[in-house]
Amino acid sequence: MSIVEKFVSMEYGPAPEDPREALAWLDRHERRFGHFINGAWQPPAAGGYFSTADPSTGEKLAAVAQGTAADIDAAVKAARAALGAWQALPGHARARYLYAIARLVQKHSRRLAVLETMDNGKPIRESRDIDIPLVARHFYHHAGWAQLLEQEFPGYMACGVVGQIIPWNFPLLMLAWKIAPALSTGNTVILKPAEFTPLTALAFAEICQEINLPPGVVSIVTGDGATGEALVKHADVDKIAFTGSTEVGRAIRRATAQSHKKLSLELGGKSPFIIFEDADLDSAVEGLVDGIWFNQGQVCCAGSRLLMQESIAEKLTAKVRDRMSTLRIGAPLDKAVDIGAIVARVQLERIERLVNQGVAEGAICWQPPTPLPSRGLYYPPTLLTNVHPTSIVAQQEIFGPVLAAMTFRTPREAVELANNTAYGLAASVWSESINVALHAAAQLKAGVVWVNSTNLFDASCGFGGYRESGYGREGGREGLFEYLEPAWFKHAPALKPAKLAGGAAREQDADAAVPTIDRTVKLYIGGKQARPDSGYSIEVRGAYGRLLGEAPLGNRKDIRNAVEAARKAEAWAKATAHARAQVLYYIAENLSQRGEEIAGRLAAAVGREQAQVEVRTGIERIFSYAAWADKYDGAVHNPPFRNIAIAMNEPIGTVGIICPAEAPLLGFLSVVMPAIAAGNTAIAVPSEAYPLITGDLYQVFETSDLPDGAVNIVTGRASELLKILAEHDDVDAIWCFGDEASGATAKALSIGNVKQVFTNEGRAIDWFDAKQGEGRWFLHHAHQVKNIWVPYGE
Ligand code: NAI
Repeated sequence: MSIVEKFVSMEYGPAPEDPREALAWLDRHERRFGHFINGAWQPPAAGGYFSTADPSTGEKLAAVAQGTAADIDAAVKAARAALGAWQALPGHARARYLYAIARLVQKHSRRLAVLETMDNGKPIRESRDIDIPLVARHFYHHAGWAQLLEQEFPGYMACGVVGQIIPWNFPLLMLAWKIAPALSTGNTVILKPAEFTPLTALAFAEICQEINLPPGVVSIVTGDGATGEALVKHADVDKIAFTGSTEVGRAIRRATAQSHKKLSLELGGKSPFIIFEDADLDSAVEGLVDGIWFNQGQVCCAGSRLLMQESIAEKLTAKVRDRMSTLRIGAPLDKAVDIGAIVARVQLERIERLVNQGVAEGAICWQPPTPLPSRGLYYPPTLLTNVHPTSIVAQQEIFGPVLAAMTFRTPREAVELANNTAYGLAASVWSESINVALHAAAQLKAGVVWVNSTNLFDASCGFGGYRESGYGREGGREGLFEYLEPAWFKHAPALKPAKLAGGAAREQDADAAVPTIDRTVKLYIGGKQARPDSGYSIEVRGAYGRLLGEAPLGNRKDIRNAVEAARKAEAWAKATAHARAQVLYYIAENLSQRGEEIAGRLAAAVGREQAQVEVRTGIERIFSYAAWADKYDGAVHNPPFRNIAIAMNEPIGTVGIICPAEAPLLGFLSVVMPAIAAGNTAIAVPSEAYPLITGDLYQVFETSDLPDGAVNIVTGRASELLKILAEHDDVDAIWCFGDEASGATAKALSIGNVKQVFTNEGRAIDWFDAKQGEGRWFLHHAHQVKNIWVPYGE
């Protein structure tokens, strides 16, 4: 081809990246890797290896150890042994280690990028310009948090030994997202990389050696799902952090239910990419290239559902097709390639299967005529139109370069369509009108919303999901909480069974509280007193076995009604924080007016002294959360681009709450008030030992302007009601403050819709002590953070 012809065709020539450095590194290790345990390379206990290959060629790159329970055990022992000294280091010393890691990641960045591309198939442009620089950024940023930890998180301490399991789509980046915050907060780590992409984690192990990180602080155990399972099940692990499929996330929740392991899950997504008619269409199309064709669409937050305003749909799809035709597909080490290889054959087949199913359901499939390389695992960029919102390709995560397009008419319809998914990881909104964009952003149920941008990430900003996309955040201040716990809670003693009757109460208290009228309370649902569906009651006995009254025996139907009422009351979340505070103050005022009478009745169960303190402290507690309602602010993060990320604290939704038995009034207020102060609606199951408190509470609520359904109270057998709440898919979170067994039940049954679970882990909380019984710890669990990225400037 002559120069003139080349000029006319504007064909790209090949621009291959030199792989020799990376290959030489593999050769130095004789293309065979053991585990990195206790600061040294160890052969696998059972002697097994598996191979990892380059998906763009099928060529084997190296043999990697298959981890077994014995390898995991050795790594956990090393992590446990290293923990004390690592935690005892001053923050500055840990900061230096993290800083040294960041420096070495930068020093070896080219080799790491090439290795990542060879192992995963992603274009070198992405691993070189996005993945690896972000890895370094995470370690720099978290070196800073190590330095500031004591000042910024007083009273908190590390979880301990942490097991981390990561996927194959961003191998080294996911490692950094997990290891950097864990180390900065003083945890020790066992990380299991994905079986398709273990190499950069092993290169990272070498960096740990190079900087003389104390042995056992980081161990890397390679292997498949069975290795991950062994890590999850190990009894001496304090926390599991997982990124991967929702299915495995659920399995991990189930497997950890009987333990006190803290858990964070970053799962799948089906994120909407919403383009309004007033958007800058050319920018939006470029955004879409990043949104769905970045990393071959193997991105948990990929903008895989294109929602276009009807008026621009035709014009926009034409532009999208034009742009798709210019995407270059080919060898990932070619610096001019846009779309590389799919990570593994099983993934390629999954993409093909889902697209075929979508087409069978009526979708029209369009792919550019660009030829695919003759060998390796490739899938062309794909646009599906005529997609019905319930179609499999609109609902299931495809995890490939496949865009499912739909249209909407009004902004309201756009939000409805966008939220019509079980997931809630991310969303991208395009409009030149700040009102339209931010109005949509506020209503989207997603942990991250990018305005006129997409797939922006930074170590200073939290990332993580709503709903079935999981819980917990990675990055920023909010991410650190996943690796910290209040020090008092970690050392709290086990909860003793609540024996109110005959325990705290003295005989003369019981006599003093002789009820003048029959105390038969009702349920409180949707702002109304309601009889139980069962038609039965439970007897409530006080000190010395005296009958104090009867409370309804609530059942499944009552819970269903209560959840329905709570869902209907979700406007409570939209009330201003000031308005919510006013309602709480009003509740406190009304409780104060009836205080003596309520304490008098409560005395029959808990004794006069405790009853009086419960009322007095209860009023204070309500005041506290009224005060917090408009002060639990979010943050504005400052990522290093022309962008701000507004980290908003949002309510979780509808929360099912099993209240502590041991302090019937104060316990109820200590857990229900933070939930509603945050804007959640609640279904509360009061103390089974003294459910008669319900009668006092609803009289207070009824006169306090609390909207109907914001708080619902169902009395009965707490263990039965807990099960119903945990299995109910319209309940978004479970709070359970009871014994060890009830905590385990809450976790085990909350897997259907991946509910957030907050329990006392069977430990005693002193509700009378404000340091334990109120404050930020509760508010943290009452909120989820949404990061809204807003570009600004020239
Ligand atoms: P996966 O969830 O099976 O794998 C993720 C990690 O979990 C890997 O390290 C794997 O070895 C480990 N693992 C597997 N089973 C385990 C178990 N029972 N206990 C503990 N660890 C276990 O994901 P997979 O099979 O690689 O991909 C399947 C689909 O999952 C994808 O098509 C995609 O839809 C989704 N996915 C989502 C990701 C995300 O970032 N949200 C990442 C990877 C996959």
